[in-house]
Amino acid sequence: MRRIYLDHAATTPVRPEVLEAMLPYFGDEFGNPSSIHFLGQETRVAVEEAREQVARLIGAEASEIVFTSSGTEADNFALKGIAFANRNRGKHIITSSIEHHAVLNPCHFLEEQGFDVTYLGVDRDGLVDPEAVAKAVRPDTILVSIMHANNEIGTLQPVEQISTITREHGICFHTDAVQTVGRIPVDVEAIGADLLSMAAHKLYGPKGVGALFIRRGTKIHPFMHGGGQEKGRRASTENVPGIVGFGKAAAMARSEMDTEVPRLTSMRDRLISGLLGKMDRVYLNGHPQLRLPNNVNLSIDFVEGESLAVSLDLEGIAASTGSACTSTDMHASHVLTAIGVSGILARGSLRFSLGHANDDADVDYVLDALPGIVNRLRAISPLARSDRARNE
Ligand SMILES: Cc1ncc(COP(=O)(O)O)c(C=O)c1O
Repeated sequence: MRRIYLDHAATTPVRPEVLEAMLPYFGDEFGNPSSIHFLGQETRVAVEEAREQVARLIGAEASEIVFTSSGTEADNFALKGIAFANRNRGKHIITSSIEHHAVLNPCHFLEEQGFDVTYLGVDRDGLVDPEAVAKAVRPDTILVSIMHANNEIGTLQPVEQISTITREHGICFHTDAVQTVGRIPVDVEAIGADLLSMAAHKLYGPKGVGALFIRRGTKIHPFMHGGGQEKGRRASTENVPGIVGFGKAAAMARSEMDTEVPRLTSMRDRLISGLLGKMDRVYLNGHPQLRLPNNVNLSIDFVEGESLAVSLDLEGIAASTGSACTSTDMHASHVLTAIGVSGILARGSLRFSLGHANDDADVDYVLDALPGIVNRLRAISPLARSDRARNE
């Protein structure tokens, strides 16, 4: 059976070139980068080269990149590090209600520690209004954290306008760019970010490695206390193979960006218009234009996202439900709820996220398979039956 992976927002496969770059560091090149001897020096050179590659991808200086164990760690580092380092100046943080839980849960933790967090709402397309950010600013605001792109609905936030506001007030601006780095051009100067989170596994690098960009001069507490690695900001012996893989993936993403963005955008738009054209009572979630080039998120009336995903899986298509936070959590997603998708419709949501190995034939395959699946599920759906009866 044909197997089509359309869940690149969850994770991406490691590219063969990335794996090849990593392999020596699982073998002969095993030195600790902090060691003085030649084996340590060799891995130190590899880590610093990867730092340059990651920095180049986002227009930063290598010295502004701190490697972490994940995107989640980068978000935790940014929020807690800024909060605890600046609490003598104020204890107010502004974020949005549609952030990833890697931002929302540190915010909840900080509230328990006596910080005050404002959660801004979004419009129907999932956009944060920069005016709302300006209005929420208080004399004691120390941090604004608004994601670059949403992982569920793909909406891109007006981060440049938001950073103009934070700069005027001398407030730190963090953006969770886990879904954008390597997928669309990201430039920390253009964005005006003081802190920016990334994860290697979203750009064809390995899992378990991420990074936080920290603008030079930003006052931040270390995330891990221990040895002096990462200039004392994140102790622990570096994950050398992972960091090398991240660097290689960053370099590849940078060189392929110009061709990959339009290619993905055109497949995305064909998938959206094809599915909306072939089925009734199907709605696109997220902004129609200001969205990630690889994201398609739909709500489909009278069907359950889980049944859709399982039926697609049987046809060899790997997609994700947009309805539940995890497979065990049956609550509607906080993101869909925030954009006003009603509980029952939110439960019938599906996310396709395209990637490097996908082509037009994959789009055609989904366009052929999904309408039939939806029809079959609707035929046995009590909700669809009572709707038909109402209209007869
Ligand atoms: C927007 C966003 N932030 C943070 C994360 C967490 O990244 P990681 O899985 O590397 O911890 C993800 C992962 O899905 C994400 O999409």
